[in-house]
Amino acid sequence: MLSENSAVSAIHQVDPTAPILVFDSGVGGLTVLAELRNVLPQAPVIYAADTAGLPYGTKTEAQIAARVAGLLGRMTERFAPRLVCIACNTASTIALGMVREVLEVPIVGTVPAIKPAAAMTRSGTIGLLGTQATIRQAYVDRLEREFASDKQLLRHGAPELVEAAEAKLRGEPVDPGAIRRAADALRSMPGGADIDTVVLACTHFPLLEEELAEAFGPGVSFVHGAQGIARQIARLTDGQEYARQHPDRALFTGTRDLSASYADALARYGLEGGGLF
Ligand code: DGL
Repeated sequence: MLSENSAVSAIHQVDPTAPILVFDSGVGGLTVLAELRNVLPQAPVIYAADTAGLPYGTKTEAQIAARVAGLLGRMTERFAPRLVCIACNTASTIALGMVREVLEVPIVGTVPAIKPAAAMTRSGTIGLLGTQATIRQAYVDRLEREFASDKQLLRHGAPELVEAAEAKLRGEPVDPGAIRRAADALRSMPGGADIDTVVLACTHFPLLEEELAEAFGPGVSFVHGAQGIARQIARLTDGQEYARQHPDRALFTGTRDLSASYADALARYGLEGGGLF
């Protein structure tokens, strides 16, 4: 009885104006935000893009862990979010455990959707597109062992796709060569011709799903974790109240406020450029 009461009062203690902080190295986390909008349209959001650190995928584990822990520490102190979503596979597969240990706020990470891909594949061969840093993580090995041990999982690190997705959201043309090279890299691996399911293991990549679908051709399905992450956030904040006091903002790290370059895309996701962090 006592613990039930404590749980109820804990729910009511959450400040209704407290935002959900959605964090990525760039605009990839917007693919998670889009799903979050579907399940919690009333939730105030701060979107934070570590553009000064972009790309994460070509950095070392130590660089990424230090950067993510440091930034999230500062941001949670400043914005007092009710929950932090690390909308980045690279940051999550490297730093999720560590960040959870040091921050006293619920944290939802984004990890490659290998489990649903294993349930979907008919051929038994799954492709995985991520950053170079993500595809070498023990976290991914564990997901493969746990959920896809009877499948073939072919991994490819595609840093060019991160830049292509960023360009697309700035309204610039997408380099078709970058898309083709990513598809060819998976297809040319032993067994690659059998791929019928591709895990988009970087939050930037669903922004290029149309282009990738064309490059892979018919009969290939794409899967990513954004919907599941949004549902998990809804579960963890169940019963909380929301009061949005001002338009949701996008913040960028570094010395250049990139709000203007991404203004149209930010507006599509219900964000105003909020400046630098
Ligand atoms: N969006 C990030 C991810 O999900 C990575 C992009 C980058 O290389 O910074 O992995």
